[in-house]
Amino acid sequence: MTYRPGAGSVLIQSPAQCRVSAGPGPTANLRRIDPTVYEYDEKHQAGAPERRRPGKRMFPEGTGPAPDPAGSHFERRIRSFQPRRSRVTSGQADALKRLWPKWGLDIDGQRTLDLAELFGRDCPVVLEIGFGMGEATAQMAAAEPGTGILAVDVHTPGQGNLLNLADRNGLSNIRVANGDAIILLREMLPPACLDGLRVYFPDPWPKKRHHKRRLIQPEFLTLAATRLKPGALIHCATDWEPYAEQMLEVLTAHPAFENTREDGGYAPRPSFRPLTRFEGQGLDKGHVVRDLLFRRTHPEPAGPDEAAGPDEAAGPGETARRDETAGPV
Ligand SMILES: C[S@@+](CC[C@H](N)C(=O)[O-])C[C@H]1O[C@@H](n2cnc3c(N)ncnc32)[C@H](O)[C@@H]1O
Repeated sequence: MTYRPGAGSVLIQSPAQCRVSAGPGPTANLRRIDPTVYEYDEKHQAGAPERRRPGKRMFPEGTGPAPDPAGSHFERRIRSFQPRRSRVTSGQADALKRLWPKWGLDIDGQRTLDLAELFGRDCPVVLEIGFGMGEATAQMAAAEPGTGILAVDVHTPGQGNLLNLADRNGLSNIRVANGDAIILLREMLPPACLDGLRVYFPDPWPKKRHHKRRLIQPEFLTLAATRLKPGALIHCATDWEPYAEQMLEVLTAHPAFENTREDGGYAPRPSFRPLTRFEGQGLDKGHVVRDLLFRRTHPEPAGPDEAAGPDEAAGPGETARRDETAGPV
């Protein structure tokens, strides 16, 4: 009979194997099944992040956002957001029930999206990561009806609020994605499909031990670059000065992006970006807001023996196109 390991466990052939991934870790979580097979409980290995218990569904399947759409497939990674249980008002719950089947999608990491199908037409598509309550998203969608806005967040009340705003204002160009933007970018979006990327006031993670959770990092930019069309804009804003400095540093250093500012610095807030809710809170505390507008460079054509993806193909010697009057991304 085939032995099936328990949840969070794997079968290995030697105790040495559990030390490969876990370092010189404990073997207490090792159970001998037969002379050559051991069950290793990865879940309890030293330093491993705790597995989350599956969330309780607020809406029956298919009628609203799932509590953990990617399930256990992509659990072992550092998250840039804090899962929070916030109260969903009856108006938000009603919008989620009515509009989720039409305009919502769960980030389950299981399929590649066809953006023309998602928006019901061929149009430029901009991804906004972390729309919060979605007021700024709705305003921008209203100002650019010809652009599809793919807005992603994990925050259920915000998803309901944005759907409500879209419905009340007749905005058919917004799609609300529920889950981790990294999984959306990595698993569900085809290469070079986005005309812009917006990251407004991402969680600043001020404590040093949390800096690794900040979204704008070299690895994130490398992933984002593969999904952006050449010439597409990435627009970030923050009111947290040390994070602004980090953003400027990593964006400037990344070979796939170039600053739209001739002086290589921050941009003034472009008129197309409305004030956001989080920004308002920062301004009330006297924070200075920084905008950063960078452009995806044009990758050099890959040589015949170059198997590299778009990131590796983009080198520092690419033609720099600078444009002071960057329009909406
Ligand atoms: C500080 S709030 C800012 C919200 C809004 N942009 C504003 O300015 O009011 C950051 C938001 O990003 C979301 N977020 C952070 N990382 C995310 C990720 N990897 N995928 C989806 N949403 C994320 C959080 O849930 C949160 O709602």
